[in-house]
Amino acid sequence: MANNMRYFIGNWKMFGVPKSINIVNKINTFIKSDKKYNRKYRVIITPPYTLLESFSKIFKKKLISIGSQNCYHKDNFSSNTGAVSPYMIKKIKAKYVIVGHSDNRAEGDTEDMLKKKVTFALKNKLKVIFCIGENKKERSNKLTFKTLKKQLSKVLEKKLNKDNIIVAYEPIWSIGTGKIPKSSDLSKTIKFIKKVLSNIFKTKKSIKVLYGGSVDSSNIGQFRSLQEIDGFLIGGASKSSKNFIDIIKNYYR
Ligand code: 13P
Repeated sequence: MANNMRYFIGNWKMFGVPKSINIVNKINTFIKSDKKYNRKYRVIITPPYTLLESFSKIFKKKLISIGSQNCYHKDNFSSNTGAVSPYMIKKIKAKYVIVGHSDNRAEGDTEDMLKKKVTFALKNKLKVIFCIGENKKERSNKLTFKTLKKQLSKVLEKKLNKDNIIVAYEPIWSIGTGKIPKSSDLSKTIKFIKKVLSNIFKTKKSIKVLYGGSVDSSNIGQFRSLQEIDGFLIGGASKSSKNFIDIIKNYYR
């Protein structure tokens, strides 16, 4: 895989009904005609559980990969109402799973649970998109680096398959607010995260680190010069094929 491969991941959160497949189809049509696809970037869409199987069937042989937004932290099958295991996600041919999104941390996902989720997802041969990020208070108290280091080191460890882990840095104060970090701060933070990851995995090989938080087609250009960012986790703007495609187009303008 080329080192400058970028990821554009659309995290739909609690959005989408069966006909929303049209959004993914339009994105697929665009990337099919784009020679940069697979050479310079890849697209992953994470729809809600209700659409996961139909989307992953349709996109099994297509360019876009499908992922889950979360998974349960243990067991292939068990009596946990509402839970979906990594095994079940793998069986419907989804390839990725997001773990540790701040929405789920806010709902009670502990670091202990996240460690189990990551371990279990990797065991089931899913690729993990592991989310970290400081909140507004941690940021104003200058605790960003300390928070991120703790979030990484409590969950990730050397024995895990680092090749199947992508980290997404999503500052909580930026999600859905229209606020994005200053480029110089973001650059330092992403480099810091990569350094922590190198220490955890005892490797010089760079692990992919994405940015997420209010990314849209009008601000994507600001991230272009930050070569250390390996891609983007996009929430609100991924619910429209036009916005999502414009993000990619404007990034490579
Ligand atoms: P927004 O792009 O809507 O800020 O959401 C970011 C996010 O949480 C993606 O996981």
